[in-house]
Amino acid sequence: MDFFEVIKTRRSVRRFKEDPVPDELIEKILEAVKWAPSWSNTQCWEIIVVKDPELKKKIQEAIPEINPAYKGVGQAPVLLVGAAKRGVSGYYQGEMSTDKGDWYMFDMGIALEHAALAAHALGLGTVHIGLFDHKKVAELLDIPEGYEVVEILPIGYPARASKAPKRREISEFTHLNKFGNPWRKEE
Ligand SMILES: Cc1cc2nc3c(=O)[nH]c(=O)nc-3n(C[C@H](O)[C@H](O)[C@H](O)COP(=O)(O)O)c2cc1C
Repeated sequence: MDFFEVIKTRRSVRRFKEDPVPDELIEKILEAVKWAPSWSNTQCWEIIVVKDPELKKKIQEAIPEINPAYKGVGQAPVLLVGAAKRGVSGYYQGEMSTDKGDWYMFDMGIALEHAALAAHALGLGTVHIGLFDHKKVAELLDIPEGYEVVEILPIGYPARASKAPKRREISEFTHLNKFGNPWRKEE
């Protein structure tokens, strides 16, 4: 699949087939995480690959049932859980470099979007899951002090096609030189 097609056709997948995902494909997805950019190349991410069915069930219980991704987490054969080391991304010599605080959410977002795009290019589906009991998942996975669980990314073969939610037009979010001045491409 062409790069732009991968970007455009990736959808959040919330229903999965039971078919297992071979470890070779998981490795390719992890390779895509490995090459993600990060603050000063600090690579604050840790990825827990969860395959144990009982553990997966317990993780699912940490997600509220109103979360549209709840059911899919019970179906997906593999979950990636992203946990970030605090105090490295966005820091220089132990001091925060910007007024934005710790940049771990940003770096983890890029890393796991690399994973989502790689999975899609391999014919697999994923959904970024942010709404769940992060503390409970951290306990279940023995996440050490100093790390924050950020996201759950189930991976599996999509059980059905998902429709693309509407996007804002480029003209609605783009400005030329200064905010409020519409961007127009030169003819
Ligand atoms: C940071 C983040 C957190 C998200 N959390 C959830 C979630 O908890 N549950 C869910 O069903 N989808 C979640 N999503 C998926 C979004 O709802 C989805 O990306 C958006 O509606 C656009 O749809 P698309 O991914 O199919 O293009 C999350 C996405 C992001 C980027």
